[in-house]
Amino acid sequence: MNILVSGGAGYIGSHTCVALMGAGHSVIIADNLSNSKADTIGKIMGIADKEVTFYEIDVTDTEAVDIIFKNHKIDGVIHFAGLKAVGESVEKPQDYYYNNLVSTLVLAKACQKYGVNRFVFSSSATVYGDNKVPFVESMDLLPTTNPYGETKAMSERILTDIAKANPYFSVSILRYFNPVGAHESGLIGESPNGIPNNLMPYVTQVAKGKLEKLKVFGNDYPTVDGTGVRDYIHVVDLAESHVAALDNLKAGVHIYNLGTGKGTSVLELVKAFEEANDIEIPYEIVERRPGDIASCYADASKAKRELGWTAKRDMIAMCRDAWRFENGQGE
Ligand code: NAD
Ligand code: WQD
Repeated sequence: MNILVSGGAGYIGSHTCVALMGAGHSVIIADNLSNSKADTIGKIMGIADKEVTFYEIDVTDTEAVDIIFKNHKIDGVIHFAGLKAVGESVEKPQDYYYNNLVSTLVLAKACQKYGVNRFVFSSSATVYGDNKVPFVESMDLLPTTNPYGETKAMSERILTDIAKANPYFSVSILRYFNPVGAHESGLIGESPNGIPNNLMPYVTQVAKGKLEKLKVFGNDYPTVDGTGVRDYIHVVDLAESHVAALDNLKAGVHIYNLGTGKGTSVLELVKAFEEANDIEIPYEIVERRPGDIASCYADASKAKRELGWTAKRDMIAMCRDAWRFENGQGE
């Protein structure tokens, strides 16, 4: 199939393009490079050994999106493009609501215009708020503490209503837990701008000596060792889930948790990183980070049952691959 991948130059999108091409699909990437680099496109092609069509456009731009649908027979859309920094979304709510909601509306509208009925959307475990773990797809969503999370919950509702109005529209809403790691080639991975907000990139930069030590945000949570627990998932496992989601699309809206189902604390992750890479990670315990919850992990059984997908790569592989990628980056 010809798959339009919005945000395909980004972290999860680039790995997914590789997985899609590995499964025989053709990929058309639409990305404005606001949080990615043009050379990622060449790296994707290098790993997959296949050509990619790339449009440097903003997917909130109706006319630019229309040109892609005119130029190609699109069979399905995977919509990754979005702004994703939780803290920044509190500072710049309008940018987040505009970019994340208008992009979803524009792509869904183009699908309607051109009769494309396959749509896969990148949502987030953040929509569960502070529900009781493990999170199950059938749970009522609780308010999130930031505009970013709200854009994901709202996009889910928009797509649900569109699917209600069009019985042929098939939507897969994928709620990612905490994606980490990188492609085993070391060519593509996550390279955040500035000081990383997320744990794994922070740890790899400490390992590299770019940052002095890790600040562990709180050790008084009701968890195994008092530090926050999350469901880390290898980005290549996550990428593969999109191929399964496309293969198993059916009419209506279907929501899937994409995680391993296993919670790991901050200190457990640090220990795994040290073991996997034989590098010490200095850390100190500091105050809790506002907005953080104690525990977040998936009940991942629905994706296994309905998509035939489960995460295969363990925490050691996540730490090893994250480090290989960081190590391959220039200073
Ligand atoms: P990313 O920032 O690496 O990738 C997003 C890509 O979209 C970037 O290449 C960026 O340039 C592009 N983009 C943003 N707005 C655009 C626009 N208007 N038009 C065209 N391109 C645009 O992020 P990621 O980690 O790969 O995340 C992909 C998706 O998954 C996002 O929707 C994100 O919210 C969601 N998600 C990510 C995580 C995570 O922890 N990484 C967790 C849950 C959900
Ligand atoms: C993980 C754990 C921190 C950094 C975020 C978004 C979420 C989703 C994934 C997009 C927590 C602790 C972190 C550090 C630390 N993104 N930590 N020191 O907060 O679970 O999820 O990314 O949808 O919406 O909120 O991920 O990697 O920031 O934190 O102690 O320097 O590591 O407190 O317990 P989080 P994270």
